[in-house]
Amino acid sequence: MSLQPGLSFDQAPPILVPFRFFLSAPLFGLLAALLALWFGPALLDSRWQPAVLAWTHLMTLGFLGMAMVGAMMQLLPVMAASPVAHPVGVARTVHGLLLPGVILLVLGFLLASHWPMRLAMALLGTGFLVFVAAVGESLKRASSANPTVVGMRFAVIGLVVTAALGLTLASNYGWGWWLTDRVTVTNLHLSWGFLGWVGMLVIAVSYQVVPMFQLTPAYPKMAARWLTGALFMLLLLWSATRLLPEEMRDKGWLAIGLLAAAGYAGYAITTLRLQLQRRRKQSDVTLLFWRFGMVCLLLALAAGVMRQAMPLLVDIQGNNFALAFLFIAGFAVSVVNGMLYKIVPFLIWFHLQSRLIGVAKVPNMKQIMPDAGMRRQMWLHFAAVPVLVFAALWPPLIYPAALLFGASMVLLEWNLISAYNVYRRNIKLVS
Ligand code: HEM
Repeated sequence: MSLQPGLSFDQAPPILVPFRFFLSAPLFGLLAALLALWFGPALLDSRWQPAVLAWTHLMTLGFLGMAMVGAMMQLLPVMAASPVAHPVGVARTVHGLLLPGVILLVLGFLLASHWPMRLAMALLGTGFLVFVAAVGESLKRASSANPTVVGMRFAVIGLVVTAALGLTLASNYGWGWWLTDRVTVTNLHLSWGFLGWVGMLVIAVSYQVVPMFQLTPAYPKMAARWLTGALFMLLLLWSATRLLPEEMRDKGWLAIGLLAAAGYAGYAITTLRLQLQRRRKQSDVTLLFWRFGMVCLLLALAAGVMRQAMPLLVDIQGNNFALAFLFIAGFAVSVVNGMLYKIVPFLIWFHLQSRLIGVAKVPNMKQIMPDAGMRRQMWLHFAAVPVLVFAALWPPLIYPAALLFGASMVLLEWNLISAYNVYRRNIKLVS
């Protein structure tokens, strides 16, 4: 069956393949909120504190990693007509390794203890290896003419670089050998995580989901074809110059950073422009989440450029935190949250209609995921992000920020579970 030109739903994997990841993601977001409440304003003293590193990975590996891994396993057969082989086994294995891996990594930071870190390295390393091997094989089979496939390939390479650097950094904690150039390696690790993995995957997926779900015109063909490759090359060049000793770095590396920022900014502005040209003028939750996410991406890029142009800012912790909150909570979580609100009801409807047709009435998408619940959660998130960013400047605000963010994660989990229960209730009619 093909509902959209170029999309094939024939080979969609069983529903639990993506759902086990989707249902886990908000729980990590909730843990991040509880951690922020527990540590309070002290969390914002320095980016190198164990609690900050724990918070960062609850969000980047826990919330974003879970949702993005689940989404890729679901979207590859649909968008690239190239399913992951043995999806059930791969999903179970990857989820079963990553979930305890993230928890142990967080415990390793918080307890400053060697063993949880060593175990986390084994679990995360193996989990990502299985995931990359499975999706890598599927992406190799897929057509290179599809810009989403090309972008996903770069994103997977971005994940490999991020994980390799992350494991190197983690070995510091696991064996206490301590890297001499920890700051440079950490900055490379986070740049690849943010721009190589998260940013690249969002761009790749948006080429198909923005026009399809938000009824906008398509992204300009040339830009869609070349943008991810150009950004990837810039990230490589920028990383290479970053490894040079400071006195040997010339203005070139600043120019490369600016070009990469301009590429991402161009993407965000194009997305906002396409949204203004959409066919249906009514705004829906996904559209608003994406719009909010793109504005936060632009603000995060502005903060990043200021940081690179004025090295003095690097030592101002508020600036580092504001940038991280804007990118992680403002951009990445918003975009993923908005996507979940399209993918989840659609998948449930899709799986139900193939089983219930001719037997019972199939619930529609509004019944599966009611608008009111999504909107309530969206407003909580929209309130949480600015308070979180202002908390970077005035740390006592971390309490209301964490409460709002935690409440939004609880409601997101509730909305996802309620939708999944609609599936379970209806599927019982035919089993
Ligand atoms: C196998 C997976 C990963 C491992 C083992 C890992 C490990 C680490 C470690 C050990 C550090 C601390 C560096 C230090 O204290 O010297 C770190 C920092 C960081 N990681 Fe990861 N990481 C992983 C994946 C990711 C991903 C996917 C992202 C983002 C998408 C990410 C974002 C960050 C950030 C932003 C920091 C710096 C936090 C700060 O400056 O406060 N990590 N990572």
